[in-house]
Amino acid sequence: MSTFPATRLRRLRRTDRLRSLVRETRLDLADFVMPLFVCPGEGVTHPLEGLPGIAQRSVDALVDEVETLAALGVSAVLLFGIPEEKDEEASGAYEEDGIVQRALRELRLRFPDLVLATDVCLCEYTSHGHCGIVRGEEIDNDASLELLARTAVSHAEAGADIVAPSDMMDGRVAGIRKALDAGGFSHVPIMSYAAKFASAFYGPFREAAGSTPQFGDRQTYQMAVSNGDEAMKEIQLDLDEGADIVMVKPAGPCLDLIRRAKERFGSPLGAYQVSGEYAMIKAAAERGMLDETKAMWESVTAIHRAGADIILTYFAPDLAEQM
Ligand code: PBG
Repeated sequence: MSTFPATRLRRLRRTDRLRSLVRETRLDLADFVMPLFVCPGEGVTHPLEGLPGIAQRSVDALVDEVETLAALGVSAVLLFGIPEEKDEEASGAYEEDGIVQRALRELRLRFPDLVLATDVCLCEYTSHGHCGIVRGEEIDNDASLELLARTAVSHAEAGADIVAPSDMMDGRVAGIRKALDAGGFSHVPIMSYAAKFASAFYGPFREAAGSTPQFGDRQTYQMAVSNGDEAMKEIQLDLDEGADIVMVKPAGPCLDLIRRAKERFGSPLGAYQVSGEYAMIKAAAERGMLDETKAMWESVTAIHRAGADIILTYFAPDLAEQM
């Protein structure tokens, strides 16, 4: 191998055009998914303190927002619902006229080409804020499966293109697949939050979705940050159960796992740049500590370079504006 002075890597960095010619990672707007929060009411746009630029919106306001997103070229969204009322059984998650179901019908009608994905979980709908049904102080895995499956089917009925279970109960992908197929939705893909860690970076989201657990934490179902091999096992199991797209979450702190998953499994791979990752950049930029635009591009480029095919990020509209 020749070395300096024959080899000079700076030669290809001399101009913008040369750098562009040898760019290894390119981002495509079609790979980005924008998370959205839908809440009850009319004419409601409730900005979130912990997520600058992001708001909870009632269905009508959401329609306007999606109009803007579509005009920017954002082609996929992921819906989260904030229900009117919460209860022990998370009824709001699977009601026919639940908040997400209503938003889906409206968006489906107005934006036939938009990819409509939905987060399938119980935590926004349970009074205790956990992702499954609670028995005593425990989260009952198997009792939660049926409700998750019902939720997914109700989303498909209302027009979802993709359902995305984020609860981390064992066996939920198989349960959802079976229920979707039985309900006549064998064509609806599952994007599973396969390797989802018990992460501090979901902090701002829990304000956004009103889903902070009222007791305990999520460590009995979400993964320990220390476990990479187990993450591969989670992904393998979800694929075996019928997941069509698998996801790693959070993204930035898990670039190694995104790379491992990319090399190991041949399936479409998503990564979720979560609320805290977004909020960190926003907060630091607000204080003049870093350049927001550059930090945004660097963070999503790194996630893509690590191997993510699909990136879920609150930056989607800002990225779209510059693409
Ligand atoms: C629901 C869910 C969460 C997120 C996505 N789906 C919160 C959690 O598990 O606590 C986090 C998203 C984000 O932080 O942006 N289970």
